[in-house]
Amino acid sequence: MKIGIVGAGNIGKTLSRTLSAAGHEVKIANSRGPETIPSEAVATGARAVHAVDAVRDVEVVILSMPFHRMPAFAAALAEAPADAVVIDTSNYYPLRDQRIDAIEAGEVESVWVTEQIGRPIVKAWNAIGSASFADKGAPKGTPGRIAIPVAADDADARALGMMLVDQTGFDGVDAGPLSQSWRQQPGAPCYCTDLTSEEMHDALAAAEKERLPKRRDLSAAVIAERVGDASTSPDSEFGVRITRAIFM
Ligand SMILES: NC(=O)c1ccc[n+]([C@@H]2O[C@H](COP(=O)([O-])OP(=O)(O)OC[C@H]3O[C@@H](n4cnc5c(N)ncnc54)[C@H](OP(=O)(O)O)[C@@H]3O)[C@@H](O)[C@H]2O)c1
Repeated sequence: MKIGIVGAGNIGKTLSRTLSAAGHEVKIANSRGPETIPSEAVATGARAVHAVDAVRDVEVVILSMPFHRMPAFAAALAEAPADAVVIDTSNYYPLRDQRIDAIEAGEVESVWVTEQIGRPIVKAWNAIGSASFADKGAPKGTPGRIAIPVAADDADARALGMMLVDQTGFDGVDAGPLSQSWRQQPGAPCYCTDLTSEEMHDALAAAEKERLPKRRDLSAAVIAERVGDASTSPDSEFGVRITRAIFM
């Protein structure tokens, strides 16, 4: 498939590497220009482009940027084909994204993104830590393969998201419509806890919406204390230990 990835950071560069290796025609962009795309993002055949070119003439757009940058990207995204499936990896962290009143009032993050960008989205790859995503992918059928939840209102788009998740080395788990996707937000039992698909189903069912923000903020504080900076991702062993202790 023709896939455009917007965001070449912790998650975007692994998406680019794995989806190119799976045989897709991948373009990847950041906000600064193609010459600043990390070499590992294009090591398996992806092409570095400007953001506006990443969304043109593609069948899938994957947005992998900070949550608060979404509204400003709506105009560029309008250049994407009307039938392109838009997948979003983002999560809301108030320390990074500034306070967004609608989210603080309980709006589901994926629903807010859909409203901001004016397109339905598939929510995927948001609930895997970047270190686990880079290092722990495995072929389908591998015992203990880690799962990633995929939510969308359109069943075909959700199935496509699950197929692409599989091709990045993880079991895609059907997490239902966007209205239920708070179950995979930061603070939820399935969030960055490296569960198998069997465990993931139980974890999605066990989520308690009102407890998520406090648990999210607790984990962010512990991780910031450890790595010294809220925007740095922890190594997977430490990150998963913390999220399991706080979220499950
Ligand atoms: N890190 C994790 O463990 C993790 C796990 C799951 C999901 N997520 C979520 O996935 C998203 C990306 O996370 P990340 O850790 O990969 O972030 P990151 O390392 O900070 O990278 C963000 C990327 O987005 C690009 N970007 C920002 N605004 C843009 C714009 N207007 N147009 C084009 N590109 C733009 C940045 O480009 P420039 O550098 O050029 O500005 C950068 O390449 C976030 O919402 C995050 O919450 C993160």
